[in-house]
Amino acid sequence: MTIRPPIAMLAELTHRCPLSCPYCSNPLELARQAQELDTETWVSVFRQAADLGVLQLHLSGGEPASRRDLVELVRAAREVGLYTNLITSGIGLSERRLQELDAAGLDHIQLSLQGTDAAMADEIGGYAGGFKRKMQVAEWIGAIGFPLTLNAVLHRRNLHQLPRAIEMAEDMGARRIEVATVQFHGWALKNRNALMPTREQAREADAIVREARIRLKGRLVIDYVPADYHSDYPKRCMGGWGTTGLNVTPEGKVLPCHAAESIPHLVFDNVKDASLHQIWYEGAAFQAYRGTDWMQEPCKSCERKTVDFGGCRCQAMAIVGDANATDPVCIKSPHHAALQAQTEAHATAEGSELVYRAAPGKTVPEPVE
Ligand code: SF4
Ligand code: FES
Repeated sequence: MTIRPPIAMLAELTHRCPLSCPYCSNPLELARQAQELDTETWVSVFRQAADLGVLQLHLSGGEPASRRDLVELVRAAREVGLYTNLITSGIGLSERRLQELDAAGLDHIQLSLQGTDAAMADEIGGYAGGFKRKMQVAEWIGAIGFPLTLNAVLHRRNLHQLPRAIEMAEDMGARRIEVATVQFHGWALKNRNALMPTREQAREADAIVREARIRLKGRLVIDYVPADYHSDYPKRCMGGWGTTGLNVTPEGKVLPCHAAESIPHLVFDNVKDASLHQIWYEGAAFQAYRGTDWMQEPCKSCERKTVDFGGCRCQAMAIVGDANATDPVCIKSPHHAALQAQTEAHATAEGSELVYRAAPGKTVPEPVE
């Protein structure tokens, strides 16, 4: 198959994060600060990405604002012509730092929303005072005039807040809201009993999004990631493995998707040992599930095989224990019925406590200046 250059790169600058969201999709084993790539290496990676054809750079984490060199990194990325998007909880950003990011050329901010009030947001983020700080940061973002996307991760506990989340996006002057029903990767797998939406909630969310898209046409774009465990066909994960984007972890491993390290037989190249160009075009992990040659039945002979590329490899690994299997969300998968039953059991589990990465109730730290 013809391999085209990637459009987007997700740079996971750090795994450090003041929040401890139970739906975190980062791996169970987080990279420590000492293992993170230094400024110079990230700058070189950005240059290589631009040369490779990447257009958009998503600066993510953990919390990217935990990096003291964030402004410098944004400036370097802009200098090589990348469109820069900061994916942040807002915690750790001061007004002055936002102004510096603006001066450095930051193009866009994506602000996460754990809930639409302090009680919900602070409980989910495991962070006392976080919501208040986030609302302050949203005001500064609006005052500076950054194009803003609000990113709301929704699950059984907060799906009733979806209409308010959409209103908040409008109030904040956001151009876009990403309504993402929780995806279960990494740490989130531990919280399926606590977070799995019910089938009714999933249907209701579909209806709310449908109505809001019509009502807000031309004012607010709504990107929607539905609750795929309740679907009959899987999502086309990453737009197809190794076709549109790549992720670089804090320690420099280059992954075809965010959760790829959960597939144990894959070996990942590191930017310290190989060029991004070489990794994208020849890296073993990128070749593993590109195209359709790797498929087994029922995907192999399915008319939708170039529509969804067999769904999500990491989900097949997590649920079926085989990354080559059809995504069990698919109605044609032999594991579909079992997944549906399991989903129902998770969605109706009672009294499930949230499992946090770290003890909840941390207090708000001083922003990094
Ligand atoms: Fe997609 Fe495979 Fe299901 Fe066909 S069988 S719809 S290709 S996941
Ligand atoms: Fe890895 Fe879907 S998250 S392929």
